Order: sequence, then C-alpha cells, then structure tokens
Amino acid sequence: MSSRPPGMPLVAANWKMNPTNIDDALDLVRGILSVARGHADRVEVSIFPPFPWLLAVSEVLVESGVKLGAQDCFWEMSGAYTGEVSPAMLKDLCQWVIVGHSERRLYLGETDDMVAKKTAAGLSCGLGVIMCVGELADHYDAGTSDQVVSAQVKAGLASCSADDSARLVIAYEPVWAIGTGKSADPEHAYKTMRLIRRIVGEMIGAGAARKVRILYGGSVNAANVQSYVELPYCDGCLVGGASLDAAEFAHIVKVTAEVYGHR
Ligand code: PGA
Repeated sequence: MSSRPPGMPLVAANWKMNPTNIDDALDLVRGILSVARGHADRVEVSIFPPFPWLLAVSEVLVESGVKLGAQDCFWEMSGAYTGEVSPAMLKDLCQWVIVGHSERRLYLGETDDMVAKKTAAGLSCGLGVIMCVGELADHYDAGTSDQVVSAQVKAGLASCSADDSARLVIAYEPVWAIGTGKSADPEHAYKTMRLIRRIVGEMIGAGAARKVRILYGGSVNAANVQSYVELPYCDGCLVGGASLDAAEFAHIVKVTAEVYGHR
C-alpha cells in the first residue's frame, strides 16, 4: 500500500476563538489569500474561523480556490439543542468541519461517542470531516500513545464506510504539543500516523484507506513544517497559533507545496 493518498495535501488554519473582531478576521483571511491562491493547484488550503465570521470570510474566499470550514458541529440536524450548530446549517457555507478537537474533549467533555456521531453527521451532509485524535502528555510519558490513539480512531470511525474515504481526514495532534511550542519528534509523529493509516485500513478496507488523508498538528510553524510534511504518512498539517499570522501561515503553505511538488 502506498503511503500517499491520491488527493492533494491539506493545510488547515484552525483560528480557534480568534480574532475577536470581524475587521481583524477579514484582514487575516485577505493576507492568507494573497499567498495561498498562488499554490491552490498543489495544496488544498482550508480556513476554520469562529462561527460568527464564517459568512463574511466565505464572501472573501469566493472563487479563490481556498476552502472554508467550521471548528465543530452537532450530530443532529435541527431541534431543541440550544447553542449548537448542525452540519445541515453548515453545508451550503462550508466544505469542511473539524470534530473532536482536544480542546473540546478537554474543556467541554466531548467523548469518543460524541465524536463518532459528529463525524457521521458531517459526512452524511456532504461535508469533509477532519477528526482529531491525540494522546495526553501522561500517555506519551507512559508509552501508551499507540493504545490511546488506536482507541480514538476506532471509536470515532465506528459508523464510517469506504464511501466516506475521500472526505475523511484524521488529524494526529498530540495534546502535549498543541499551543505549547513543544512540537512532536517527527519520528514519533511518523510512527503514529503509520499506525492510524493501518487502523483505518482495518476498518474500511486498505483500498479506501489510501484516500483518507492524515495530518499532523501541534505547534506547526514555518520553521518546522517541512519536518512533518515530508514524512511518508503525512498528507498535510492542522495549524493553530501560526495560522493567525498571515505571513507565517503563507510560508507553511508554500513549504508544503514545494515538498509535495517533489514527491
Ligand atoms: P497549535 O494548535 O498549532 O497552536 O499547536 C494546533 C491545533 O490545535 O489544531
């Protein structure tokens, strides 16, 4: 089985709960766009702003080739779920949705079961889903990263089938590397992404699993991105803090385009 899926690499900008006003959000997306559109034929770039900025950002992105995504969704399509946003509401605005981010698992108590339901709901609406997995520092220190990540992948993909593979992305984000500046050793990232690819193959079939893209996330920046995107099982990156600086994010996109252009 080849380690590279046929699709383009994906570089995703997870803005999290930033910026706090619309003018800054629009400045940021315009800055990213000015460079990213030049690489749109080699790298799929997607931006994940907070919900209130999605519509305005979507208007800037029209016909740019750069995609838009939401940072979360609920698993039901409508109803009495105060504060939630359904994938049915997102599907005409966004191409992507992130589910199971570790900050939601940590601060909002999201479980593997919720992540599985969100994954299935997003895919059923035609959205691409980036499902996040990753071990805590304690697991890493105890040498149990593989067991934790395997369990998250198996639980999160419980309702997925081979038909979903082209719209399914798994982001491996060791929790201890997120927002800490302590990016993972590429060897550890490589072994874990290889494990994820194997598990996905066991679940939906090796042929379909080849189309599932796997990203690395956790303190990715312009200086270290090459060491991840050149790894055999890595199909791009999920970028948090560094995606709030247009020049730095643009550099991440450029490096990714160059690395994949040489593969
Ligand atoms: P970071 O965040 O790049 O700031 O570490 C990554 C993420 O949480 O997706």
